[in-house]
Amino acid sequence: MKEYTQNLTASSFGKDFLWGVVIAAAQNEGAHNSYGKGLSIWDTFSRRNGKIKGSHKPYVACDFFHRYKDDLLLVKALGFKIFRFSISWARILPEGTGRINKEGVAFYHRVIDECLKLDLIPYVTLYHWDLPAELEKEGGWTSHLFLKWFNRFASFCAEEYGSKVKNWIILNEPFGFTSLGYMLGKHAPGRRGLNNFFPAIHNASLAQADGGRIVRSLVSQAHIGTTFSCSEVIPFSDKETDLIAAKRVDILLNRLFIEPALGLGYPRDDFKFLEKLELYNKTWKYTKRMQFDFDFIGLQNYFPVVVKYNSFIPIIQAVEVKATTRKVSHTSLGWEINPDSFYRILKRFWSYKGVKEIIVTENGASFKDKVVNGEVDDEQRINYFENYLRALLKAKKEGIHVSGYFAWTLMDNFEWSEGYAARFGLIHVDFNTQLRTIKNSGYWFRDFLMETDM
Ligand code: GAL
Repeated sequence: MKEYTQNLTASSFGKDFLWGVVIAAAQNEGAHNSYGKGLSIWDTFSRRNGKIKGSHKPYVACDFFHRYKDDLLLVKALGFKIFRFSISWARILPEGTGRINKEGVAFYHRVIDECLKLDLIPYVTLYHWDLPAELEKEGGWTSHLFLKWFNRFASFCAEEYGSKVKNWIILNEPFGFTSLGYMLGKHAPGRRGLNNFFPAIHNASLAQADGGRIVRSLVSQAHIGTTFSCSEVIPFSDKETDLIAAKRVDILLNRLFIEPALGLGYPRDDFKFLEKLELYNKTWKYTKRMQFDFDFIGLQNYFPVVVKYNSFIPIIQAVEVKATTRKVSHTSLGWEINPDSFYRILKRFWSYKGVKEIIVTENGASFKDKVVNGEVDDEQRINYFENYLRALLKAKKEGIHVSGYFAWTLMDNFEWSEGYAARFGLIHVDFNTQLRTIKNSGYWFRDFLMETDM
């Protein structure tokens, strides 16, 4: 294998820097209806025609439920110190509320115990998009009962695992699941329209802060965060209309969830974009309850977006000019590769007063990987990680407090509506045989991280 590590060393990030790798329950576990688990909205959504590429289902995924011991050994072998995973709500509470499933509870104890045995630090995400299907029947994230359900789940997990797990992430990308799942209908549960989107946003803002308070009250010495997707929004031209369109998109993509968390209420701007929408009216009443003093924020960046004014698009009046149209370098999902933009978005989030610590809780890329003679030569992914890490190091050296980087993802898995074809892993998975093959990017990380052990 080629030598990729020149110039960039893990030790330049500092010896306490947190190097991690991430998975999520619905994308990895499988065992979707066994050992007492209830169905999640992804299990039911995947039955609907045309919703998921190739009609793929998350039923078996990477079979992490049965293979977690071997997979955690791989995490260790690649040199990571942190293992971030999520808890499937429907595995713990099959109906989302009410009855507890002991077999599900025991599974996460096994995963946590195995991490601790291997000296891996668990970072637990409470909600990574897999709402119990039974709760969706009652309105899901739009229901007025939502916080009651969520708070019970959060309290249960904090009490059950809090003596072993100190690092907690409340929500994974609230903008991701509310916009794709409740506005655009592209993700589970496949609902559309502002009547679904606004209540889901509001419940997510409240759940993110309530969850923080719950973990704080139940777990001693907890280190609590929540994650935000973020994308630099670049206007297509200098025209006033494009500049304003970019500001509107920026409110949604970057400001919608962090500002309430910081106690600023829903975002305001000179053009009064959000103020004109009903959601904004909630600010005065809920500013305090939406606020929580997070120990860290998790940032997840995959691409910048370039936007252009378009009067035909309701409310937002903007369209994206895709990376493929602009002919800039991109991943197999058409996502622009732009480490400079990653650097800028890190600096931007750091500029919020009240952000104390940033962890990059996801970053990675999908490419069309192939196993050839037992090897996956994913040089593009190595370059991707190397360049993004350089950008992070630059921001860190300029004074932003970024304390960790978690790669998305340990192994190829169920990539939501893209099914199994979009491969993001450091480890290749053959979904017919469950054979794992460490990609060259996995070996690159191992070599890169090895020197931090010395
Ligand atoms: C994130 C999400 C992950 C993963 C990744 C790559 O938004 O949290 O679960 O799918 O994107 O698309």
